[in-house]
Amino acid sequence: MSSFNGSAPLLEALDVSKIFTRLTGDLTVLDDLNFALHEKQAVAVMGASGSGKSTLLNLLGSLDYPTSGRFLYRGEDLDFSKRSVVDHWRSRRIGFVFQNHMLLPDFTAMENLLLPARRLGPITPEVRQRAESFMETIGLIDRATHLPGELSGGEQQRIAVARAFINEPAIVLADEPFGNLDREIGGRLGEMLFGLRDSEGTSLVIVTHDPRLARKADTILELVQGKLNPIEA
Ligand SMILES: Nc1ncnc2c1ncn2[C@@H]1O[C@H](COP(=O)(O)OP(=O)(O)O)[C@@H](O)[C@H]1O
Ligand SMILES: [Mg+2]
Repeated sequence: MSSFNGSAPLLEALDVSKIFTRLTGDLTVLDDLNFALHEKQAVAVMGASGSGKSTLLNLLGSLDYPTSGRFLYRGEDLDFSKRSVVDHWRSRRIGFVFQNHMLLPDFTAMENLLLPARRLGPITPEVRQRAESFMETIGLIDRATHLPGELSGGEQQRIAVARAFINEPAIVLADEPFGNLDREIGGRLGEMLFGLRDSEGTSLVIVTHDPRLARKADTILELVQGKLNPIEA
């Protein structure tokens, strides 16, 4: 796990623990976990419900902070105490796909696709061109002006997948992205996600219960008792 194509790690978790403090007592979800993600590597994370997969993804994307341990991006510590620095890092480097598409209902498909880009500044002609090309890739160019409510669940999630790539992120994090869709549509969206990852050269961490989807990844890991273990494909 420490080497992939002989490259240095892009994102590393070092002895990361996450403990939730609750009235009923502390809950250790991640326990001195170590992980390295390399450039262009796709990692599938499996594991029982409640094992901490979403917690891990949230930490990798700096949406939450660890109780202890470090995260290194290209060898440099992410300083979780510097909120604006971490927010900017996340906007630039990370794309997210959640189980629920999280599209804004009053914005068109195209506007939703462009949302992460707006966070970085005005939309340039280049970015708009990129978004249109993504709309072609996902087969929704003629639906660009539709609202999410006018699209099927699979179509909504196609927008959500493309949106994760709009800012040319280094890493896309996908948390059970097709868990709400039927097998066949989920399978097609899996092809699309891995296709974008290949053409964009993005690293990917995908949480999934679907072995077919997991097998598309370069590495399959299982989260068990707060740690990541390799499992056979
Ligand atoms: N903010 C929180 N406060 C307290 N407990 C939490 C919080 N978030 C998650 N948990 C608990 O941590 C455990 C792991 O949750 P989660 O990461 O969502 O698991 P998974 O995604 O693998 O199903 C669960 O027992 C969950 O109830
Ligand atoms: Mg989860």
